[in-house]
Amino acid sequence: MKEIELPELALVLLVGPSSSGKSTFARKYFLGTEVISSDYCRALVSDDENNLDATSDAFDVLNFLAAKRLKRGKLTVIDALNLHKEDRAKLVQLAKENYALAAAIVLDTPIRKLHERHELRTDRNFGRQVIEKQYDNYKRTLKSIKREGFGYTYVVNPEEELQIVRQPLWNNKQQETGPFDIIGDVHGCFDELLELLTTLGYSINLKQEEAFEVQAPHGRKVIFLGDLTDRGPKSPEVLRLVMDMVNAGQALCIRGNHDDKLLRYLQGKNVNLDHGLDKTVQQLAATSSEFKKEVEAFLDSLIAHYVLDAGKLVVAHAGLPEEMHGRAASAVRAFCLYGETTGEVDEFGLPVRHDWAKNYRGKAMVVYGHTPVPGIDWLNNTLNVDTGCVFGGRLTALRYPERETVSVDSKAVYSEPVRPILADNIAAITAQQEQDDMLDTSMIRDKYIVDTSVGKRVIIREENAVAALEVMSRFAIDPKWLLYLPPTMSPPETSALPDYLEHPLEVFSYYRKNGVRNLVCEEKHMGSRAIAVICKYPEVAVTRFGMQSPAPGIIYTRTGRRFFSDAATESDFLDVLNKALTAANFWEHFDTDWICLDGELLPWSSKAKDLIVNQYAAVGASASNGLARTAEVLQQAKARKLPVDNMLEEVQQRAQAIDKYIASYHNYTRETEGIKGLSFAPFHILATEGKVHVSQAHTWHMEQVKKICRQDEQYLLMTSLRFVDLEDEASVTEAVNWWTELTATGGEGMVVKPLEFIPTPKDKLIQPAMKCRGSEYLRIIYGPEYDLGENLVRLKQRNVKAKRELALQEFSLGIEALERFVRKEPLRRVHECVFGVLALESEAVDPRL
Ligand code: UTP
Ligand code: MG
Repeated sequence: MKEIELPELALVLLVGPSSSGKSTFARKYFLGTEVISSDYCRALVSDDENNLDATSDAFDVLNFLAAKRLKRGKLTVIDALNLHKEDRAKLVQLAKENYALAAAIVLDTPIRKLHERHELRTDRNFGRQVIEKQYDNYKRTLKSIKREGFGYTYVVNPEEELQIVRQPLWNNKQQETGPFDIIGDVHGCFDELLELLTTLGYSINLKQEEAFEVQAPHGRKVIFLGDLTDRGPKSPEVLRLVMDMVNAGQALCIRGNHDDKLLRYLQGKNVNLDHGLDKTVQQLAATSSEFKKEVEAFLDSLIAHYVLDAGKLVVAHAGLPEEMHGRAASAVRAFCLYGETTGEVDEFGLPVRHDWAKNYRGKAMVVYGHTPVPGIDWLNNTLNVDTGCVFGGRLTALRYPERETVSVDSKAVYSEPVRPILADNIAAITAQQEQDDMLDTSMIRDKYIVDTSVGKRVIIREENAVAALEVMSRFAIDPKWLLYLPPTMSPPETSALPDYLEHPLEVFSYYRKNGVRNLVCEEKHMGSRAIAVICKYPEVAVTRFGMQSPAPGIIYTRTGRRFFSDAATESDFLDVLNKALTAANFWEHFDTDWICLDGELLPWSSKAKDLIVNQYAAVGASASNGLARTAEVLQQAKARKLPVDNMLEEVQQRAQAIDKYIASYHNYTRETEGIKGLSFAPFHILATEGKVHVSQAHTWHMEQVKKICRQDEQYLLMTSLRFVDLEDEASVTEAVNWWTELTATGGEGMVVKPLEFIPTPKDKLIQPAMKCRGSEYLRIIYGPEYDLGENLVRLKQRNVKAKRELALQEFSLGIEALERFVRKEPLRRVHECVFGVLALESEAVDPRL
């Protein structure tokens, strides 16, 4: 059977006169969605396949669809006559613009058959002469099509059985998952390469016949980023080692501009012996002609870039913008080899480059070399690992997926750099921080999707994102601090007990039902959620958080607002926290110079004083006055023997309720002055440099918290807790009693958490925490008379489903935000998540839950 090879991504033109069998061919060999037919587009815009007036609009639609598909990397077939050179040229151009190859399949059907078929067709009403004219054009096409820029052309008899073979592109190595050690430009620095490989755990032996035998550390593979030779002292040795490793399947190598030029030299082409190629040529003179042949074949086989690990990693010598990933086109190859140049030269006579990495927004990590840089500096998930070894810098490898770099110093300055490589001083802020916008509003769009590490996919809709932006831009702290927002928390289902809206038994039954056995119940403090980011030294605010000036850290609320309006109070309190952390030896123990702590700051009045005075106190005062007056009048009526007993009783009940209400909010009020009277109860050690501590159980978190709290009993508050084993009835009863005692004296209630921070029994994420509020506290939330008469019955009709889903989504986003921050991803990627939490908070869910 005749085979037709097509690249997996191509724009394929079917070419042939009417009735040559194009649509039949398309149906037989391609997916319905892969084929765009001009007739169909004509019908789409005019309801009539044969309407020639609609041709121009139809081709607009066709081009639009084809461009969309190609942009998404989808093979696309154009079912149209394609008999005119100009028409084909437009499609070839379209392929090129989308970095796809163009292919043509010309259908060779004799004119006799065209006429025969045409006679039988009821869907084509033109005359014989049209077919004849088209056939002439077909003949002309056969003569020119080979020179029209198609990567592949085939002339086929459509009645013959064919097999279409789709070739994966050479750059597609998505199945290779690593782990990799990705090494920057070597430029003949053989000794440094040996040292680096040894440091990375490879062992290298020279065998008799001048070939290297390499032992790789378990499962690892090297990726060379090109520019193996030139300028350095031992280019042939480098080539020998790299070729041996590639042949043994221990390394991949992509093509750099120097490799490309050396290849052209070896092929006998006329190239200038400059930029260090002269040295390589001299060194190669001492090698055998077989060796040179082998080098030539090797260099010839090198591909310009690879897409690896299911698309998560892209390597290219000079980097690569996202739209070129996995594409095979000459523009892509040129970019890989030389980078994007503006055509201008700088003061040293070197080409000025557009910095594609600044604009990079892709998901894949891009690792590249080509331009020597003084240090390792991630930018938008791209990294240049060419640290200028041949110029006296270092030879660097990136370990993937670990994202760690390993470098060895150069042993000499083998070549003087034309442009000075800046001294390796520690930059005040990183390239990423310099590029990070305060707030990237590109998140405001129809909807955006965040895939989180805990496996939940969260969709943020535009109207919610707009609400979040409003909060962020008007009220929030400097977004550079915002690495986390805490999730909302759901209460249990309504209690089955007559006098309760919430009760621990429903919490326990939720967790039991979901396969969790061990829980921790933590006292719910009567304060407000607070996130504290504490810097060991004020400079860390600049170097790690990208702030303009040094700062001790920040304390913010669950909606991203500054907790204290008074700057002195904030800095004093941060000082308290820093001292406790230092005294607890925390910085050394966690090898970090910052921490993000999650906890509760008390009293509530320190944040919500206005709310208490203007809302709760006002209700309390007017209700208690009014009810007292009513009772007085009713008493007088009763004295006159009027039948008001029932009314009086009701008013007395309401008066009691309002007294309890007043007592309740008084519990939340405590005088404070500066930091005096404040206390902080941390409960989660969220993140420190390089780590998010969500794989640690809550017992671990509480142990760490205890070590810190012990250092300062005035300002730090340890949370009381009880452990529950749901299979041990005694522990359940004890926890219920504890909750009853806590809440009887006006306590807010408790928070119940599975021991695991991210609870996924039965592989499904469940509520990471649930609150169970006391009856008196609920009075503040639901109103003074919530438990009188029929009110409680009515309030029991509540549904926690939406609240629970929200809690899971926000929880997932919060962890994802921390992980991205810790991986030093661009701020915009962190904000996508934090912003998502804020956006979800504008969802319409009963705020009393
Ligand atoms: P098609 O409808 O496939 O031709 O075949 P086409 O090239 O796309 O034509 P236009 O440009 O849209 O007008 C035309 C007729 O020929 C028959 C089909 O069944 C259809 O009736 N046919 C096609 C065959 O009989 N044998 C073939 O191998 C191909
Ligand atoms: Mg057709």
